[in-house]
Amino acid sequence: MKILIVVSSEHRENTLKIAEAMSEAAPATVTDLENVDKYNLQEYDIVGFGSGIYYGKHSKKLIKLALNATYGDYCFVFCTSGSKKFDAYNAKFAKMLENRGKTVLGSFGCLGLDKFFIFALFGGLNKTHPDIDDFEAAQQFICKTMHKYLEIKK
Ligand SMILES: Cc1cc2nc3c(=O)[nH]c(=O)nc-3n(C[C@H](O)[C@H](O)[C@H](O)COP(=O)(O)O)c2cc1C
Repeated sequence: MKILIVVSSEHRENTLKIAEAMSEAAPATVTDLENVDKYNLQEYDIVGFGSGIYYGKHSKKLIKLALNATYGDYCFVFCTSGSKKFDAYNAKFAKMLENRGKTVLGSFGCLGLDKFFIFALFGGLNKTHPDIDDFEAAQQFICKTMHKYLEIKK
């Protein structure tokens, strides 16, 4: 199985750390948006798309890529955010992909250090996140996602 994880982690590399944790538990390659052209997305069984949440959404560039690039049917989405609304943010992104005919195998979210604007004055929100529990949860998620894919393909 081959997995490509495309990540846009513009603020504190929180989401990149989550993507890297996932790649340690799965046959997955991580790329940022700047280097995604080096990969043929069609060669991957599953493509994951993750970013921080910026003004209520995943990275606009990431969403554009996920909705317009040519790749297989199976994907997943993930994010880190300053608030605990990550499930809602992921659901919005997943819906967009499903409307394009993609099968979204699952979604993952966790808190990330947020030093946006006024929060920086106090050292940021969620100072310790993502933490070891978040990394473990991300690894469990990617394993579950692979199993789901294998079940569908059986
Ligand atoms: C410009 C900006 C806007 C943000 N907007 C939101 C938001 O609407 N909701 C939220 O929960 N977190 C928001 N955050 C917090 C980030 O989503 C959070 O810090 C995330 O972990 C950043 O991920 P990254 O380091 O991978 O970029 C915002 C952060 C920045 C810098």
